[in-house]
Amino acid sequence: MYTANEARYAGMQYRRCGNSGVMLPCLALGLWHNFGAITPFETQQALLRTAFDNGITHFDLANNYGPPYGEAERNFGIHMERDFRPYRDELFISTKAGYDMWPGPYGDHGSRKYLISSIDQSLKRMKLDYVDLFYHHRPDPDTPIEETMGALDQIVRSGKALYVGLSNYSAEQAKAAVKELKRLGTPCLIHQPRYSMLDRWIENGLTDVLREEKVGCIAFAPLANGLLTGKYLEGIPAESRMAKDGRYLKPAALTDEKLGKIRALKGIAEERGQKLHHLALQWVLRDPVVSTALIGASRPEQITDNLSILSAPPLTEAELKRIEAILNQ
Ligand SMILES: NC(=O)c1ccc[n+]([C@@H]2O[C@H](COP(=O)([O-])OP(=O)(O)OC[C@H]3O[C@@H](n4cnc5c(N)ncnc54)[C@H](OP(=O)(O)O)[C@@H]3O)[C@@H](O)[C@H]2O)c1
Repeated sequence: MYTANEARYAGMQYRRCGNSGVMLPCLALGLWHNFGAITPFETQQALLRTAFDNGITHFDLANNYGPPYGEAERNFGIHMERDFRPYRDELFISTKAGYDMWPGPYGDHGSRKYLISSIDQSLKRMKLDYVDLFYHHRPDPDTPIEETMGALDQIVRSGKALYVGLSNYSAEQAKAAVKELKRLGTPCLIHQPRYSMLDRWIENGLTDVLREEKVGCIAFAPLANGLLTGKYLEGIPAESRMAKDGRYLKPAALTDEKLGKIRALKGIAEERGQKLHHLALQWVLRDPVVSTALIGASRPEQITDNLSILSAPPLTEAELKRIEAILNQ
């Protein structure tokens, strides 16, 4: 029987998501890795409990997180039943559809047919009546934006999600989608892009659109899937994601250019008396348009370790300039 830590809200900082009523924790936990069939149930349980016990109220899922597809939602449903049912109203739970999920023409992309079927499946797997946030996971240039956004609007109006969001949309695509959602009367709460020191694409227009439209932003993979911990500087550790689950993170990512930058950034972190991943998380959160860094974790200690940024001194102008110089090399 799980009883949440009574002091769970003491240390976390919450930031407003765009101009909505929603406050999100600075760090949120994603279930992309370590919640499928290959991770022991006890590990998953410890990750979720540690997160919630420390004020991480936001868990992020998608229909196809696993492996196999659907398994992270299915496992989350079991954790929901066992641990989190009494805390449902303290949690902000998201899921998504947009990538391949089931065979045939209706299990991928952005049709109304796919999105409505997918949210119904997700709710069953997660044993939820509704999710707090439902995303279109990636843009679909072949489906009219009116159809995809119309489906998101319908999902909210039918009570299956409280808010909707976009993920991986470019600045231009996001602008069009946000406009259509506004017209429909279901505002876009948030955009979820990849963002880290090693991938700054959102700075070329997307963050301007989000600021103008007052849409929130949650940065996924702020540690570049673990590269920004420095753990790959001397090879590939046996306990790392690259060694254990190389579906997405491959040795080809370890280029000399990237490793050189990581080494130099680690030097700055050490001068600040912290670890590279702390610097990387603080850096992502330096722009107030980003409410949240959406991390993954393979061990509960990683979550508590990352939480130490909440009491770290902010980055100074001089440090930011030095980081900028390294990233621009
Ligand atoms: N919308 C999208 O298209 C999309 C795409 C990708 C991800 N996401 C979301 O973003 C979430 C996070 O992605 P991610 O897991 O790649 O994020 P990440 O935070 O960049 O990487 C997480 C990994 O870094 C390592 N790590 C984290 N903290 C550490 C610490 N203190 N010390 C040592 N290692 C540490 C762990 O890897 P080890 O296994 O090596 O320990 C952990 O699994 C996903 O779960 C998902 O919710 C969304």
